[in-house]
Amino acid sequence: MFHLPITSLKAQFGDIDIYLFDQLLKGRIQKGMKLLDAGCGNGRNVYYLMQAGVKVYGADVSEKAIQEINQLAKELAPTLPARNFIVADLENLTFENAAFDVVICSAVLHFARSEEHFRTIVTELWRVLKPGGMLFCRFSTTIGLEGKLQQIEGRFHKMAHGPVWFLADEGILVELEKQLGAERLDPLKTTIVEQDRSMTTWVLRKL
Ligand SMILES: C[S@@+](CC[C@H](N)C(=O)[O-])C[C@H]1O[C@@H](n2cnc3c(N)ncnc32)[C@H](O)[C@@H]1O
Repeated sequence: MFHLPITSLKAQFGDIDIYLFDQLLKGRIQKGMKLLDAGCGNGRNVYYLMQAGVKVYGADVSEKAIQEINQLAKELAPTLPARNFIVADLENLTFENAAFDVVICSAVLHFARSEEHFRTIVTELWRVLKPGGMLFCRFSTTIGLEGKLQQIEGRFHKMAHGPVWFLADEGILVELEKQLGAERLDPLKTTIVEQDRSMTTWVLRKL
């Protein structure tokens, strides 16, 4: 019997977030779909998707990140136009309303500069999503660690590994879901890391 080498998994999927991988296994991201990676960084989450025929777009406030993801696209998916990758703050995107089947936002929302910035980003990601589309966000929250984190001011917390992050709680997520008319596609899932960091996966469908 032929066995696939275990190493082929990394070669195929790169460093994709495992919770995004879960969405792939659920069949929610398909070839031909338009997908925005919001706060894409170097593109680790779209390494596989680019090669799988997903129409990948990316936005990041960092010019370096956009250069890197553009380079990745040149190598892996040369038919993707360079204009798909833009330098932008997620609070103000130039994409049209309802442009994307899927929007992913991985490890970005805790960098919000204020509660208003956080809410504006989520609303903007929602604006560019098609009805029926999926918004996948993974970010640090207070969920499961209420009262155990070092609060600086309002929703800002000093994290054990040094930086100060904006941490949403479940209440703000529920409030946004109502305001946006969103349906939860998966239950809210939170991983607690060493009792000092909580990473929540928030997956919504636009009705
Ligand atoms: C920790 S990296 C995550 C990158 C990628 N999403 C991933 O999961 O590997 C955070 C990224 O978000 C970008 N970022 C942070 N705040 C942003 C904002 N307001 N608008 C656009 N990009 C932002 C940073 O430049 C950085 O590339």
